[in-house]
Amino acid sequence: MINIHDIDTVELDMEEGSLVIIDQTLLPGRLELLRLKTPEEVWEAIKMLRVRGAPAIGAAAACGIYLAARGFKSADFNGYYREFAQVKQYLESARPTAVNLFWALDRMEKTLLESRGADREEIEAALGREAQGIISEDIRVCHSLGEYALTLTQRGWGLLTHCNAGKLATIRYGTATAPIYLGLERGYNFRVFVDETRPLLQGARLTAYELHSAGADVTLICDNMAASVMKNGQVQAVFTGCDRVAANGDAANKIGTLAVAVLAKRYNIPFYICAPTSSIDMQTLTGEDIVIEERDGSEVTDMWYTEPMSVRGIKVFNPAFDVTDAELITAIVTEKGIAYPPYDASLAEIMKSK
Ligand code: MRU
Repeated sequence: MINIHDIDTVELDMEEGSLVIIDQTLLPGRLELLRLKTPEEVWEAIKMLRVRGAPAIGAAAACGIYLAARGFKSADFNGYYREFAQVKQYLESARPTAVNLFWALDRMEKTLLESRGADREEIEAALGREAQGIISEDIRVCHSLGEYALTLTQRGWGLLTHCNAGKLATIRYGTATAPIYLGLERGYNFRVFVDETRPLLQGARLTAYELHSAGADVTLICDNMAASVMKNGQVQAVFTGCDRVAANGDAANKIGTLAVAVLAKRYNIPFYICAPTSSIDMQTLTGEDIVIEERDGSEVTDMWYTEPMSVRGIKVFNPAFDVTDAELITAIVTEKGIAYPPYDASLAEIMKSK
């Protein structure tokens, strides 16, 4: 049987001209790969969370626009750029909150603009290198972030995480899970509590699955049990990912993250956001400016149930993310170092460094 850790979450098959992803909507029951070729297929995969998690979405979109560019009809650069801009805008419309989607597509656009004057073959090669670069860079970035995060822990600690900021949300190590994987290699003996993460169960379906497959000590809990394990002294630190960090340190992440942060504050437990610099958006000044995706109410009433779990016609509020106020965040861990409050200064410093 294939182990999830033997495959990267997003791969670019240049020869076949496809983006290869794990269909995360089928996990943990079935491990199936999807080969996507068209922008429509990539858009659908991002929208439906077949590929999900901020860094993985960015990498998938970069591969998607590269593959689309291989089929553009225009012979002149301006026409080619217009086709590129249309696909870029289309892919950006798949999900609004994770800044990595916009960051990765902006990088691809910059590469294209820098190739003005080159012939078609060279332009395509440059775009392919950039997409591939975004994938390989993510592996290094998550590893480095994990090293910093590990310095915030001690052997034998209980850690709690929410949603999936794991391998399945990136290419290989995850962000919030990176210290857990490194700790596993180095005998830290962490006990990890994983929130189920209603309504789409990224914690139960994905994080529990990938950490368990790696041999970590994992305990799955319902979202409403986090307070109990904290109060009982079973959790010494919380690590979560994020979809966008504003310049003041407010951080958008999966719905329910805010509640975990409030609880952590109540029980004096450090609450860490793991954010590759690709998730830090200095153009967004505060969390109030972050667009929060709202998803279909049927995800709350019907999904994962064999029959509807609420009365037909009920109003449902289903925001996919919430914003944790900077004041609740003990530190923001990046691949370039750890940012502490006040975040406007510390994040600016980190974003300046090469
Ligand atoms: O809706 P999802 O599953 O894409 O939400 C994912 C999260 O909230 C993750 O925590 C975040 O993207 C960070 S992934 C390293």
